[in-house]
Amino acid sequence: MAQEEIAGAPLRTAVLPVAGLGTRFLPATKAQPKEMLPIVDKPLVQYAVEEVAASGIPMVIFVTGRGKEAIENHFDVSFELEHQLAGRGKEELRSLVRAVAGLAKVCYVRQQQARGLGDAILTARGLVGDEPFAVVLSDDVIEAPVPCLRQMMKVYAHYGRSVVAIQRVSHRQVSNYGIVQGVPESRHHWDGRVFRIQNMVEKPSPGKAPSNLAIIGRYILTPGVFHQLATTQPGAGGEVQLTDAMRHLLEREPIYGCVFEGQRYDAGDKLGFLKATVELALKRPDLGSDFRKYLRSLLLSRSGPRSPSGNRP
Ligand code: UTP
Repeated sequence: MAQEEIAGAPLRTAVLPVAGLGTRFLPATKAQPKEMLPIVDKPLVQYAVEEVAASGIPMVIFVTGRGKEAIENHFDVSFELEHQLAGRGKEELRSLVRAVAGLAKVCYVRQQQARGLGDAILTARGLVGDEPFAVVLSDDVIEAPVPCLRQMMKVYAHYGRSVVAIQRVSHRQVSNYGIVQGVPESRHHWDGRVFRIQNMVEKPSPGKAPSNLAIIGRYILTPGVFHQLATTQPGAGGEVQLTDAMRHLLEREPIYGCVFEGQRYDAGDKLGFLKATVELALKRPDLGSDFRKYLRSLLLSRSGPRSPSGNRP
């Protein structure tokens, strides 16, 4: 392996911020974490931890908050449940629930107030230490042949610098995202997927967006970002914005963007959540065929679905 391909130190830690209020899903999130909402039968946050584990990162730091205890319980061993499942001969289910607890080493730190994503990441500073780390937002569920984070780790290993996941979005949608301005890295075999970032703008209007390359919820960050987060003033909505801190980091060190291969679902948004549910259910070997038949049986009209007989199915 060429020396330049091992520029980045190994990543040991992924930070998963899960302390947000989840207002877009109220009232469902009044008494349960948004991150525990299931796509079919698996909570959003489990998709995220599985991606971390499949990328070879052994440690997960959850940034939690009030009312998020269900997440801790989900990634812990549940002796009572396992005992009862074993007693009923449900060995497969017992293994299934036990496997969740074995996905990663986990630790927790609490963000006392939901002051934004940037503040959540800064809360993990003491646990991460002075080393690079990944950040995964469980709102973004990504189905990919190679886990998205792993694709980014290849870029990080090459440059030893921060890497953000980016995706092309329609010009109408740019105002929902952090948008990057970047120059494609042509020297290497990245197939035009890797950009050196020159600027980033949080939620620009379509007329002011420097491109349609949107930042998605996967990051590999150098520890320099902590200093920037600690000194960045709260931005939009009184929250410390990660994009603002990264823009400051950009003045000191290069940051790269990686257009990942795979299908991303924005499960933090109601329509995106529904799309993820339908598409992932269709891909399930145990459900897909019956679910597809059911969807085909619906006559979709402007007034909503009707069965061929005109009755609600
Ligand atoms: P979102 O921007 O989706 O915010 O956070 P939210 O509070 O979860 O949801 P809405 O917008 O009110 O519906 C992206 C990720 O960052 C975490 C969230 O838990 C989510 O996983 N987050 C956000 C924090 O950990 N702390 C915060 O202060 C804000």
